[in-house]
Amino acid sequence: MVHPITQPRLRFIRFMKKILVLGDIHANYPALQTIRNYVRGYRFDRIINTGDFTVYSTFPNETIQWFRKRKKSICILGNTDRRILRILNGKKLKRPRKEEKRVMYYWTAENLLSDNIKYLKSLPRQTDLSIGNFRIGVFHGTSHDEDETLFPSDAESRFRELAKGSPFQVHILGHSHTPYYKRIDGVHFINPGSVGRMFDGDPRAAFAILKVFSGELAVDFFRIPYPVDAVVAGLKKNRLPDIYANMYRLGRKLN
Ligand SMILES: [Fe+2]
Repeated sequence: MVHPITQPRLRFIRFMKKILVLGDIHANYPALQTIRNYVRGYRFDRIINTGDFTVYSTFPNETIQWFRKRKKSICILGNTDRRILRILNGKKLKRPRKEEKRVMYYWTAENLLSDNIKYLKSLPRQTDLSIGNFRIGVFHGTSHDEDETLFPSDAESRFRELAKGSPFQVHILGHSHTPYYKRIDGVHFINPGSVGRMFDGDPRAAFAILKVFSGELAVDFFRIPYPVDAVVAGLKKNRLPDIYANMYRLGRKLN
């Protein structure tokens, strides 16, 4: 269920474990800060980030530092982060092909601070953790392919394939920028949506809270408005392509 913005502040309920689930932030620190303020006072046992810290907004350092400061955070790399590391390793990018996209990657690589590069280099492409009776896998794409884009509308047979023989009872995914929760063949598939780059025409930031209690699991999804103007100002200040300012204003992928 997606909570409307008119929803009252989060109620405090004593669950066994609470996890803030974030992903696809894409250097949109104003959106991340807005989420932080929204959940202030709510104590999380873990903060999971499904990757794509970087690219398309101009706050990659602030975004990475936010996670570096939080010992409870569990982060993996996404495809944009891996491309940034490839550039920093002196390799040529084959993708993306579009010039305006490449500009954003090169701008990010040039502006990342050394400690943040070191942190990105230390991150895995997938990880897992155990909470209560649940073994939770964290993936950017899927457990089979880190670049696979899995939408809730995809064939159930694909979810069944991923569930079959999986050592994880919970798969936390990113990459599709689409919030969803499905339970298929006993496996929970959770995608929190994108904090910082929306595809569905709703420019609000998306995130999820996972609650694990007494062998059960519940997920709440949120969409909250954030100061898009701060992102637009960052793009303008750095003379980056206008298409991205519109992308953030409209909450749509424009290229
Ligand atoms: Fe992404």
